[in-house]
Amino acid sequence: NPEVFILAIESSCDDTAAAVLQNDKVLSNVVANQLIHTQYGGVVPELASRAHQQNIVPVVAAALKNANIKKQQLSAIAFTQGPGLMGSLLVGSSFAKSLALALGIPLIAVNHMQAHVLAHFITEDGYEKPTFPFLALTISGGHTQIIKVTDFFDMTVIGETTDDAVGEAFDKSAKILGLPYPGGPLIDKYAQLGNPKAFTFTKPKVPGLNFSFSGLKTAILYFIQKKKLENPAFVDENLNDICASIQYTIIEILMDKLKLAVKETGITQIAIGGGVSANSGIRNTLKTAENRYGWKTFIPKFEYTTDNAAMIGIVGYQKFLTRTFETSAVVSRARIQL
Ligand code: KG4
Ligand code: ZN
Repeated sequence: NPEVFILAIESSCDDTAAAVLQNDKVLSNVVANQLIHTQYGGVVPELASRAHQQNIVPVVAAALKNANIKKQQLSAIAFTQGPGLMGSLLVGSSFAKSLALALGIPLIAVNHMQAHVLAHFITEDGYEKPTFPFLALTISGGHTQIIKVTDFFDMTVIGETTDDAVGEAFDKSAKILGLPYPGGPLIDKYAQLGNPKAFTFTKPKVPGLNFSFSGLKTAILYFIQKKKLENPAFVDENLNDICASIQYTIIEILMDKLKLAVKETGITQIAIGGGVSANSGIRNTLKTAENRYGWKTFIPKFEYTTDNAAMIGIVGYQKFLTRTFETSAVVSRARIQL
């Protein structure tokens, strides 16, 4: 079998990313984060699109250079078709289309959410791959889904958020506490020093496998406002305990649904992905669940779990094997089903 070299491009939200894969191994994985959004407390679509335009050429050049690959050696170009911000997606797709056309090589369209799931199939020392069927829990700033994965491109969403994503729950809670965006990693950091049982927040009652996080945000807001009236320094004095309690509640919400999903499907392999899977509390809880419930859990290497192009590349490789190519007429989609 000849070697396949895929250049992958991801530009669905606020990170401009490019990667080169040799078959299912990652040769390079470059991400340019857009720090511009920090001051606005969230991603500003217009600014994201403009930053992608500035970043895309140097990021792709760096990916090729780090992989020690010339563009003439590439077998195909994979790009994120959606879901995501339209203005951001268009920068990646236009670039991918032009380059594929210029080089006369196939163009491959990738679903960003499938990519978060299939990132587990990147061959990496020290990381095991799940076998079909497995359950994927994708938790990011934009998504919260439990997916039943039967084959590479046979996936069904069996549970998802009805309002905010888990990452938003972290980020919005952090904002209430006066922490900078994105606050998820900071909550994680302070939570490690706090008591998760210090404060209690009621968990939402959502039937079945769906999630809801907007109520939690409101509960936290009222709680903090009330405590601050009693003691203006409440947040400063209790930051670790507050963060630990918020994080504990979020993890409980996720675990309750995972347990139900395992019960309903009989599947005990759990693969997590998305930026929030970096959370140390979630990682520890899942490791504990392996012994407690007999689950097998899979957590990809950190750089493949937040938004990245390597995960787009591994899907590109799978689609290359089945010759699932697109013409330049393929359109970007802000919303796209699995
Ligand atoms: O997958 P990602 O990089 O981008 C998308 O949203 O697609 O995820 C970003 C999200 C943000 O909400 C960020 O706060 C959250 O992941 N996040 C974390 C941690 N690291 C990143 N949340 C909690 N704990 C962390 N350690
Ligand atoms: Zn993502």
